[in-house]
Amino acid sequence: MTTSFTRAPGADRAIPEAALTGSLRDFRAPAGTDLLGRVEGFFGWQDQRRRHNLWPYAKSTATAPKTHCSAKSDSGQELSGVNFASQDYLSLSSHPAVKEAAIAAVHEYGVHSAGSAALLGNTRHSLKLEKAISDFVHGREVVLYPTGWSAGFAAVQGIVRPSDHVVMDVLAHSCLQEGARAATQNIHFHGHLNVDGLARRLQRIRANDTENGILVVTESLFSMHSDTPNIGAMRAVCDEYNAKLLVDCAHDFGCIGENGLGHLGLQNMVDKADVIIGSFSKTFASNGGFIAVKSRAVAEYMKYYSATQTFSNALSPVQAAVVLASLEIIRSEEGKARRRKLMDNILYMRAEMTRAGLEALGDPSAIVPVRVGAEGLARIASRELASLGAIANLVEYPAVPQGGARFRVQVMADHSREDVDMLVRLMQQAMRTADLEYRSYREADGANNVLAQQWELASNAA
Ligand SMILES: Cc1ncc(COP(=O)(O)O)c(C=O)c1O
Repeated sequence: MTTSFTRAPGADRAIPEAALTGSLRDFRAPAGTDLLGRVEGFFGWQDQRRRHNLWPYAKSTATAPKTHCSAKSDSGQELSGVNFASQDYLSLSSHPAVKEAAIAAVHEYGVHSAGSAALLGNTRHSLKLEKAISDFVHGREVVLYPTGWSAGFAAVQGIVRPSDHVVMDVLAHSCLQEGARAATQNIHFHGHLNVDGLARRLQRIRANDTENGILVVTESLFSMHSDTPNIGAMRAVCDEYNAKLLVDCAHDFGCIGENGLGHLGLQNMVDKADVIIGSFSKTFASNGGFIAVKSRAVAEYMKYYSATQTFSNALSPVQAAVVLASLEIIRSEEGKARRRKLMDNILYMRAEMTRAGLEALGDPSAIVPVRVGAEGLARIASRELASLGAIANLVEYPAVPQGGARFRVQVMADHSREDVDMLVRLMQQAMRTADLEYRSYREADGANNVLAQQWELASNAA
């Protein structure tokens, strides 16, 4: 496929400092009585970035999210090229059997479940899916949710009550943090992957409170850093302090490990976590998620006391059929072959990034975070990468630490080595061009400007 990029008409090259600095965090808590008017500041900042092609978010695909695709940026530029920005780790979203399953479900049911699972929203497909996921996770009780986010939120909000405690990794996903906020004010964060820090917090809580519950919350694969906790060590600490352990396995469930059980499987912890959360949106080609617990009592409780289950429309029959068909592949020999191909691509990409002088962060997973550093530099690099014909998502503060902006490259089983080679080459080129341009802005503004401080922060973070 040819690569192309159309620069927005009238976009000038001189970038104002505001478009290279600041972050979403600056606008998180606008003050004043005008609830709606006070968000204008965000739009002003965002629009400066958008006008200079430095707003890499809210892109839309114009073709299927395959290894090569066409897309549009938020400012209407057409992008096309090799695609490392879609979440479809085993490339199942365009698999013929999965598409067939969707079509058959449409013919049988139409397109809508037309109700909450608590009322008349379940279908033959969703009931079958519950059983199939249950079988995959060693016979646990499974509750389905409309999205992975709502499953994560629900698991914490549905279980924890105001006098209980939630202890979570400081990088836990937004759904888990919001679920905790909805449930209690007793939220304690420990350092990322730091089991000693977790133990210290549990010890402190139990020294003052032996009456209430503690839910320890983590992820099997942290998607911004591509790293994994020692789940066995966390389990041991939880047992010592009478706490329950919740593991969100959104990004590795189905796609990592010989049998696709992710790091829970690799660490032999599928049966040891008290609550498992999964998402279908990364590997199972559909919106949706689930909670898997060890008793029917807890599953039934979640159906009526976790808000996003009881008061939200159930998975559609099409979504349930798609996830079922995907799961069937994931558990087959073909699934194993796809996981091997995915891991082969991941390892090859990480090695090639290093060979090209780029830094792949974390551990091997379908997400390869490639360090850029300063936010302004990263915004220019992202613009350049798109213009060269490669699509990859940029993540920056506050999703990752300040000065730690990175490309969050998402690999698929269907990518070829040539696709990987192309991304690495274009990323190297984009970084070089961005470095020159960013340097010129930094130097033009004198020694003590905001960009110099930003650069310094990023250098220290490296
Ligand atoms: C750890 C974690 N949990 C939950 C979600 C939300 O899943 P979904 O996009 O399926 O709603 C994500 C998505 O990025 C995630 O990373």
